[in-house]
Amino acid sequence: MAKPFVKWAGGKGKLLPTLQSNLPTDFYIQQEITYIEPFVGGGAMLFYILENHPNIRRTIINDINLGLISCYRKIQNNHQELIHELRQLHNAFYELETIEERRNLYYRLREEYNLIPVNARNTIRTAALFVFFNRTCFNGLYRENYNGNFNVPYGRYVRPNICNEQVILDAHNALQRVEILHGNYTNVLENIDWNEYNFFYLDPPYRPLLGAKNFNQYTMNAFNDPEQENLRQFCDVIHENGGYFMLSNSDSEIEEGVSYFEKLYNGFNVQHIRAPRRINAYAQGTQMTTEILVKNFD
Ligand SMILES: C[S@@+](CC[C@H](N)C(=O)[O-])C[C@H]1O[C@@H](n2cnc3c(N)ncnc32)[C@H](O)[C@@H]1O
Repeated sequence: MAKPFVKWAGGKGKLLPTLQSNLPTDFYIQQEITYIEPFVGGGAMLFYILENHPNIRRTIINDINLGLISCYRKIQNNHQELIHELRQLHNAFYELETIEERRNLYYRLREEYNLIPVNARNTIRTAALFVFFNRTCFNGLYRENYNGNFNVPYGRYVRPNICNEQVILDAHNALQRVEILHGNYTNVLENIDWNEYNFFYLDPPYRPLLGAKNFNQYTMNAFNDPEQENLRQFCDVIHENGGYFMLSNSDSEIEEGVSYFEKLYNGFNVQHIRAPRRINAYAQGTQMTTEILVKNFD
């Protein structure tokens, strides 16, 4: 079974049963579905859909993070070279015995990665480094500063699995049927045929909860309130063209007791759903919280 090849902030693995039960009722019987995920991240929903819905005829994914999208493309087309490069990184890491030496290797590789211009992070080497960082950095986070430098510190994993060949092979097989785009989410519109049955799953960076500093900056481009409002217009375009969409976000408030997304998505079906959330970056375990799920169908 194919599954995400990176751990990703906001990953939807634990929410899959809820998302699945909220798909349109005819999702199982339609024969010619186009599935579109414009903010794919680690792709928990993507891999679930690819494995469980053979009736999907076309799949389009997109993300603004070129390092991530290059991993998808290398896994799709050059997975053996990627595995080879990752094995070398794995060996280089495990040849070192002390935490200090491994940490130094991590920071040397991070420097190598950051010296490569953001728009050139599309090689086998950068894809292997991307996966390596995901396995060895703090909490598997990917975060860039305003200059596009990856700035997550070394993590605490004792025996990270740097080269998980089976996961890459399974993802390689699943991705053969996928069109992989890089850029702003609106890019996907150029590739849509509105005569088809189009289903969009939208999982943008979450709006911070009132008073909280949530992690919503994956790359040098922040996703702030004007962006959330543009995304509402994007949903209108889908709706007006007869497509279906389902959108996840935080249960964020404008002020105490007033839901930001109920107001923004007025006219659509807005549900408050239960979801597990990490307590914080330092503590172990999760607690339950509510999130919102917006749909343009019942
Ligand atoms: C909440 S995460 C998606 C998580 C994903 N559903 C998963 O299961 O791992 C949001 C994603 O949106 C991407 N992103 C941020 N701004 C974007 C934009 N303007 N256009 C496209 N993707 C964007 C980020 O790089 C990140 O991967």
